Amino acid sequence: MINKKLLATFGLLSIVVFMAMSPAKQEEKPKFTNLKVLPKNITDKQLHVVMEEWEHALGARCSFCHVRNEETKKMDFASDAKPEKEMARHMFKMTVMLNKKYFEAKKDSTGMVMETGVNCNTCHKGVSHPEIVRASEQPRKPRPGPAQGGPPPAGQAAPVATPPAGTPPPNGK
Ligand code: HEC
Ligand code: HEC
Repeated sequence: MINKKLLATFGLLSIVVFMAMSPAKQEEKPKFTNLKVLPKNITDKQLHVVMEEWEHALGARCSFCHVRNEETKKMDFASDAKPEKEMARHMFKMTVMLNKKYFEAKKDSTGMVMETGVNCNTCHKGVSHPEIVRASEQPRKPRPGPAQGGPPPAGQAAPVATPPAGTPPPNGK
């Protein structure tokens, strides 16, 4: 009698275990396998927006940070073989910290800290390895017009103020 009860219990248990391991659960498995700084639940679309943003900011291709698997002849995006990838993580953490600590940035709906003050492009401007340049040693910009806010001298274009990408419209707050 006891043995039969035990058997029934084990029988039920194994069904529970089997169901827990069934493929229905596996579909929820995260798509990306090696995220350390970006949100683990980031969607495919959101990740590609970030990656393309980094490409443009650094003026570099995917292969600047990612390696190709020579056997499969495919990009191995999860691999950490390139030091540039780790450097990008380091830079991402720095950028998040600057925004959070010094620009009072909040998180967006995906859980990422918003780029309210700085982003990769603030420093990189399309260059993968920005060199330090003393401001006093760089060529001077043309002086502003005589009256403050007045029209620029003839032959000089007025500066165009373009808001940086990702800046929310000024109305909502
Ligand atoms: C400046 C470096 C850099 C560039 C350029 C870059 N990536 Fe990434 N990528 C990273 C880093 C860093 C991670 C890991 C992020 C983390 O740890 O959360 C990553 C992660 C990924 C992942 C997730 C891999 C996984 O399974 O964990 C994919 C997919 C990916 N990148 C695709 C791309 C594509 C496609 C491009 C080109 C359009 C690109 N990346 C350009 C640095 C870069
Ligand atoms: C505050 C300025 C600043 C910001 C913001 C910044 N970077 Fe950088 N980054 C630098 C500087 C300066 C270097 C060169 C470092 C050196 O000389 O070792 C660099 C180097 C790098 C490198 C290494 C390049 C190489 O030649 O090996 C990568 C990759 C990189 N940054 C990615 C990023 C990404 C991605 C972001 C945004 C998430 C970012 N950076 C934001 C200043 C910045």
